[in-house]
Amino acid sequence: MSETVLSVEHLSVAFFTERGVLPTVDDVSFTLQKSKTIGIVGESGCGKSMTVNGILQMVPAPGRVTGGSVKLGGEELVGMPEKKLAGKRGSEIALIFQEPMTSLNPLMTCGRQISETILAHKRISRAEADKRALHLIEQVGIPMPEKVFHSIPGELSGGMRQRIVIAMALCNNPAVLICDEPTTALDVTVQAQILRLINDIKRDFGSGVIFITHDMGVIRQMADDVMVMYAGQVVEYVHVDELFRNPLHPYTQGLIRCIPGMNDSDGELYIIEGSVPMRNALPKGCLFAPRCPYATERCRLERPGLLGTPAHRVRCFRNEDGKGVEKT
Ligand SMILES: Nc1ncnc2c1ncn2[C@@H]1O[C@H](COP(=O)(O)OP(=O)(O)OP(=O)(O)O)[C@@H](O)[C@H]1O
Ligand SMILES: [Mg+2]
Repeated sequence: MSETVLSVEHLSVAFFTERGVLPTVDDVSFTLQKSKTIGIVGESGCGKSMTVNGILQMVPAPGRVTGGSVKLGGEELVGMPEKKLAGKRGSEIALIFQEPMTSLNPLMTCGRQISETILAHKRISRAEADKRALHLIEQVGIPMPEKVFHSIPGELSGGMRQRIVIAMALCNNPAVLICDEPTTALDVTVQAQILRLINDIKRDFGSGVIFITHDMGVIRQMADDVMVMYAGQVVEYVHVDELFRNPLHPYTQGLIRCIPGMNDSDGELYIIEGSVPMRNALPKGCLFAPRCPYATERCRLERPGLLGTPAHRVRCFRNEDGKGVEKT
């Protein structure tokens, strides 16, 4: 039976600036099951990382969570005292960032960093923590684990450093593992190895994974369900197979056409014309309308909710009846 590890309901995040309130994440809801991956995809600035910051209650000032609920194993994180939250981060819910060095101390040996993380959350002896750290280094596929245990991060390649970050994230067997563009800084062959490792972890550790990327090709490899975000809103939410078989939102259709190899027959790379709206000047109607080839008068005046069916949500009036539309 599926087991929900994280449930996010109506999460909203805004920045409170001199130029006014800038909505950044608008009414995001999803549930994550054990051993499943939810992919979050969308172009730069659409609110992927801020969604994660909102989940972790770590939105940087002048931003803050303005509404909604985040339940980790049934426990509400919104409004939880900081001390208790700090105990959850890095143990029950762990994070892997794009650039491994943001998570690593350049001066401390890799083994020590992992055992310190273990000791921060568990009352065991230093020797036991070191033993467990070494085992984790082995588990993330690092050759010569004992040598790496005593190395500092600067002595390792980018891919090996990211494996160390992953080992650290796994220290306390997290229920939720958040990967925010974990392979963007790595070359393609190393990227493939790290992606495989994350899939192995999902299977072996039973964590639920939130996987963030702007790369539709990577989403296809990694995700079970996918949330496509545009200008802070979820515009499509559906199983990955259905997303590629029958993308319903014009923005998703555009993203799929942008994948190299999915080009039009003339070999030209497809481009979605226009740019994401400024958050202090959002259009009155659908946020995608200014770029949408199908936009009507109604789209420019009225903002669509998440329509479609429970299994295939889409923020577009063309799908109001839940039957979908002909592909164009
Ligand atoms: N201090 C701030 N004040 C105002 N707005 C901010 C601040 N920090 C971030 N933002 C805005 O929040 C929005 C969402 O950013 P977020 O980092 O979530 O994007 P993203 O989807 O993760 O993009 P990327 O793919 O580039 O990582 C952006 O438009 C950004 O400008
Ligand atoms: Mg980001």
